[in-house]
Amino acid sequence: MSLFITFEGGEGSGKSVQTEALYRKLCRRDIPAILIREPGSTPLGEKLTRLLKWARATNISPVGELMLFNASRAQLVTDVISPALKSGKVVICDRYADSTVVYQGYGRGLDIGDIKSINSMATGGLKPDLTVLLDISVEEGFARKSGQEYDRFEKEDKAFHQKIRKGYLKLSKEEPERWLIIDASLPKEKIEKIVWQKVSGLLSKRAGR
Ligand code: TMP
Repeated sequence: MSLFITFEGGEGSGKSVQTEALYRKLCRRDIPAILIREPGSTPLGEKLTRLLKWARATNISPVGELMLFNASRAQLVTDVISPALKSGKVVICDRYADSTVVYQGYGRGLDIGDIKSINSMATGGLKPDLTVLLDISVEEGFARKSGQEYDRFEKEDKAFHQKIRKGYLKLSKEEPERWLIIDASLPKEKIEKIVWQKVSGLLSKRAGR
C-alpha cells in the first residue's frame, strides 16, 4: 500500500518533529514506512547537503543551487524513493521538489517554469500523493531557532523568508487536492492529529481499492 507524503514549510515550521511523529505512528501500526529528508538521505545527497547548507568559502549561484538540489533529488528518487514505493512502503520525505520551486524560484528569482521542468527531469515526474504545508510566520519560525547556528538559507534576510512563506501559499493553491495546509503555530499534538486524520484516510481508501 504505497503512499508518498512530503512535508514542506519555512524555517522553524516543525517539519522534523511532525515527520518523525508520523513515522513513529506508522511503525507502531506495523505499516512499512521510511523517513527521509532533502537534501540528503543518500551518500551523494549528504555530500551535497554539506555544500548547499554550510559552504562558506564556496560561492554557489542560484542556478548552481537549482542543479545541486536536483542532483541530490535524482539520486534519492532512483536509489530510495522509487524502490520503496515499488515495494509497497509509505515514504515520508522532509522537503521535495516544491522546496526548489519556492526557494530557488520565489526566493532566488529563477524562472518557475524552468524549475518545474528540471524538477520533473530529476524526479522522472514522480509527484507526492500528499504534501503537508506547515505554515508559520517568519517571526515565529525564527523564534524557535534562537541559539542555533544558521545555515546559508537561514542567514538570508527577512524579506527572503517572507517570499518563501508567500510562495508556499501560492503554490499550494495551484493544486489544492494535493496540499494539506496546517497552521504550524498550533500545539504539536494537534498538528499530529490533523496529519494522522488525513494520512489514515488515504491509507483506508487505498486498502479498500
Ligand atoms: P532544512 O530542511 O533543515 O530546512 O534545510 C534545508 C534548506 O535547504 C532549507 O533552508 C531550504 C533549502 N532548500 C532549497 O533551497 N531548495 C531545495 O530544493 C531544498 C530541498 C531545500
